[in-house]
Amino acid sequence: MKLGVNVDHVAGLRQARGGMDPDPVMAARICQKAGVHAVVMHLREDRRHIQDGDLFRVKEVIRIKLNLEMSAAPSIVKTAARLCPDQATLVPERRQEKTTEGGINLFRNERAVRNCLERCRKKGIEVSFFIDPDPRQLEKAKKMGADAVEFHTGYYADQQTPQGVEKEFLRLERAVKLACQMGVVPYAGHGLDYQNVKRVRDIRGLQELNIGYSIVTRALWVGFENAVREMLGLVSG
Ligand code: PXP
Repeated sequence: MKLGVNVDHVAGLRQARGGMDPDPVMAARICQKAGVHAVVMHLREDRRHIQDGDLFRVKEVIRIKLNLEMSAAPSIVKTAARLCPDQATLVPERRQEKTTEGGINLFRNERAVRNCLERCRKKGIEVSFFIDPDPRQLEKAKKMGADAVEFHTGYYADQQTPQGVEKEFLRLERAVKLACQMGVVPYAGHGLDYQNVKRVRDIRGLQELNIGYSIVTRALWVGFENAVREMLGLVSG
């Protein structure tokens, strides 16, 4: 199992004071040094954490995969086409949300998603859709020609009862199995931490987990590199 580390919250801390530190480029370098497979960055329309310049600076210094999370808004797609990340992950975006709250609805956003997919394709960017572990969304992703999907693990992570956890885990597991049968590469992420990741990493066929918040918060106590290495050990273990 591979690990992608989302460095948005490093930039979020920097934006709290509007200075230069902590720099997400330093975080990306540490991820690379620790043996992480990908650096994940979300360029939000409100630029609340990652700024355009961060993307280009990170792209310049890393050799591992750069996965750009993005909405299908035309201005963001334009930036993605200039940046040419290795991968683009299409996510829904609402201004008021604290974080991405659900997967993208491919039926409701079909036109914008198709435009984005075509633009990315022309630039040779691999495209993944961040979707709920829902067979209808998965089938639609396959029909639209996604290279990969990232299943939203927030529903699993947010459960408060053992029954709820079990139900959401099984839903995720079934979705991964179906994706494998359909020939769509399955990734997963959101809300994963040092505890709940253990079951998810054992799901057969799942290729990569994208994790941010829990790593950045753990970094306060053990340092960023240690926090990344601990997660890497769990994910690949
Ligand atoms: N994957 C996607 C598509 C996301 O939007 C996010 C949050 O930015 C993550 C993974 C990482 O989630 P978390 O920060 O909760 O680990």
